[in-house]
Amino acid sequence: MKIKLDTDSFSIIGDSPQIREVFDIVSRAAGSQSTVMIYGESGTGKELIARALHLNSPRSSKPFIAVNCAAIPHDLLESELFGYEKGSFTGAVNNRIGRIELANQGTIFLDEIGDMPPVLQVKLLRVLAEREIDRIGGTKSIPIDIRVITATHRNLEVAIEKGQFREDLFYRLNIIPLNIPPLRERKTDIPLLANHFLKQCNGSSTPKTISDEAMSVLVNYSWPGNIRELANFVERMVVLSIGSNITPRDLPDKVLGEVPKEKWTPLEKELELEGNPAQMLQQSLKQSFHVGIPDEGINLKKTVEDFEKELLIEALEKTGWVKNKAATLLNLNRTTLVEKLKKLKITNPA
Ligand SMILES: Nc1ncnc2c1ncn2[C@@H]1O[C@H](COP(=O)(O)OP(=O)(O)OP(=O)(O)O)[C@@H](O)[C@H]1O
Ligand SMILES: [Mg+2]
Repeated sequence: MKIKLDTDSFSIIGDSPQIREVFDIVSRAAGSQSTVMIYGESGTGKELIARALHLNSPRSSKPFIAVNCAAIPHDLLESELFGYEKGSFTGAVNNRIGRIELANQGTIFLDEIGDMPPVLQVKLLRVLAEREIDRIGGTKSIPIDIRVITATHRNLEVAIEKGQFREDLFYRLNIIPLNIPPLRERKTDIPLLANHFLKQCNGSSTPKTISDEAMSVLVNYSWPGNIRELANFVERMVVLSIGSNITPRDLPDKVLGEVPKEKWTPLEKELELEGNPAQMLQQSLKQSFHVGIPDEGINLKKTVEDFEKELLIEALEKTGWVKNKAATLLNLNRTTLVEKLKKLKITNPA
């Protein structure tokens, strides 16, 4: 089944294996009635995915109603969700239909479900079990047909342990758990998203592009605010950058501070280090030789020797096996180089 990730109002961008897995679950879960609980850090696209689930379901022509349980004061949340009958409390001058009833035949998206107060958790549980709701002050139950999707950035298992969230409700809501990974764990999506937002911003001003160097900085930044942060960031860059091509020089210190220069692309380094071959070599070595230590450990002496051997051979090959030149490239004197070649049994294969 192919899912719709594009409508007049939004597109969902991403091609990383992680986001493809999310799309795959969306495509399989959309057609069912089961509750879906979406987990993800702030700005990862939880609401967008909830909309995609609705849009790809048989309920797509019916309402999609989103309620942010953390944004509505607790004492108002009950009447927002369940509605009330005229005269049921002071100020209830008319009947009011709640959001659950508004979502009838469609989908209700309960965002930040972890913030729902315990009394409402009980009421929601009843809606799920009985498929009917009671307006505040109402005398008869109203049958209801809704698909429920929830989202949270909190760990609900911890909330359950602390007695803040009902375990029985959790199991009813968590039939299909869907985890949206943070952007820093799916770096290949960053250029796609950045260019997507760039295109959106370019509509209203002179077209701008992001240089390869700036893009590699963006790819290596941690994006604590995830896609929302990236979208806002691109918009700001489009407005504030001076030329038509956004380069690392246009990026704020907050971002640059997190990404060391070795992680910029070689092009940027080459320009910067032009005329200083020794420094250039050092930079590229720093970048290309990172020896991780696996759980089973390493043989330090041998690893260092192999590393040294590789560098010596590279220097010799670069200089056509002229030892004086290779020694200069390695900042060694010739005798030291010759001793090392002997010790490591390196000979000219030619
Ligand atoms: N894959 C994506 N492709 C394009 N835009 C995206 C994608 N994911 C998220 N966005 C955009 O990023 C912004 C944040 O997404 P959304 O509101 O769905 O995230 P959220 O997880 O609900 O955030 P919060 O936890 O802050 O409520 C929105 O403007 C949304 O359109
Ligand atoms: Mg949200």
